[in-house]
Amino acid sequence: MALAAYRQGKPAADDAFKLSSNENPFDPIPEVLEALAKASGINRYPDAAAIHLRERLAKRFAVGIDQIHVGAGSVSIIAQLLQAAAGPGDEVVYAWRSFEAYPGLVTVTGATSVQVPILPDGRHDLPSMAAAITDHTRAVIVCTPNNPTSTIVTTEEFDAFMAEVPANLLVLLDEAYGEFVTDDAAVRGEDVLRRYPNVVVLRTFSKAYGLAGLRVGYAIGASRILDGARATAIPLSVTSPAQHAALVSLDHEEALMERVARITTLRELIWQSLVDQGWPVPKPQGNFVWLETGERTERAAEVFAAYGIVGRPLGSDGIRISIGEAQSVDKLLRASAEVVRDLPSTARSTRLD
Ligand SMILES: Cc1ncc(COP(=O)(O)O)c(C=O)c1O
Repeated sequence: MALAAYRQGKPAADDAFKLSSNENPFDPIPEVLEALAKASGINRYPDAAAIHLRERLAKRFAVGIDQIHVGAGSVSIIAQLLQAAAGPGDEVVYAWRSFEAYPGLVTVTGATSVQVPILPDGRHDLPSMAAAITDHTRAVIVCTPNNPTSTIVTTEEFDAFMAEVPANLLVLLDEAYGEFVTDDAAVRGEDVLRRYPNVVVLRTFSKAYGLAGLRVGYAIGASRILDGARATAIPLSVTSPAQHAALVSLDHEEALMERVARITTLRELIWQSLVDQGWPVPKPQGNFVWLETGERTERAAEVFAAYGIVGRPLGSDGIRISIGEAQSVDKLLRASAEVVRDLPSTARSTRLD
């Protein structure tokens, strides 16, 4: 009863662009489709340990195979780790707004969410998050780039934060959008893992690799911590086609990262145009932009929908719009120009970069 049912982004009408779920707009690469078409053995259960994929990822990150855990989407690994770490009477600290799934995942463990407000420019307030840690805290989640504000945590900020965090407190570094980051100042999980054995990095094949529908993500971290996730995981959740498609995607990473580059180029263009229109948009580093529409969010979503853009309105805070097909840009910018005109002048023109 404490939990609202999960609501997915709205389906889009045939002629509208679905920019509500931060999906990758490109069709799967032919090699992935071929691998899926050839998938055999689906009358058998998948390899529960996802050995080949874990071996491959372990090699790539120069860690042991037990320092990799694969799940049916990174969200399921967050759930597993929280189940393992927290229960009634415990607390989990994270920024808010952040990924909409966090509150529900924490509630299910019986623990209490401690939500630390993000800064006015959409970034994590890490000093306040460190200050919110108590003897009851069992985990902290840091989301970079943050969903929905698309802002990063820098290495410097992260190091300063970790200096305040007890060495035995689990820190989840959620990098679902890590591949879209172009700012060199951003913290990179693979670089900090070696410094902080209490950090687990979460990555996914859903976004940059375009496999959202297959459900496959992974965690990198100390094997003793990941054993907690392996213990609470529902066995056999990561299907064979998902494991194969992830492996094939790693074989063709160059082609996939070229698509990521196309998305980030489009993102820069959209961001610049929004700033020129008077939007105070934080410089985006994920595959999405965040428009603060406040009390006018519902109305703004209607305007976007009328132009054929389905974004994700979030309460009375704003709308998150994914960077999608190149053909969506014109509609998006025409809608945003109309919406910004109706915003109170205080909400406009304070350029943040
Ligand atoms: C911040 C963040 N983390 C994790 C996820 C989950 O991704 P998946 O479960 O598809 O790997 C998402 C998906 O939108 C996200 O925005």
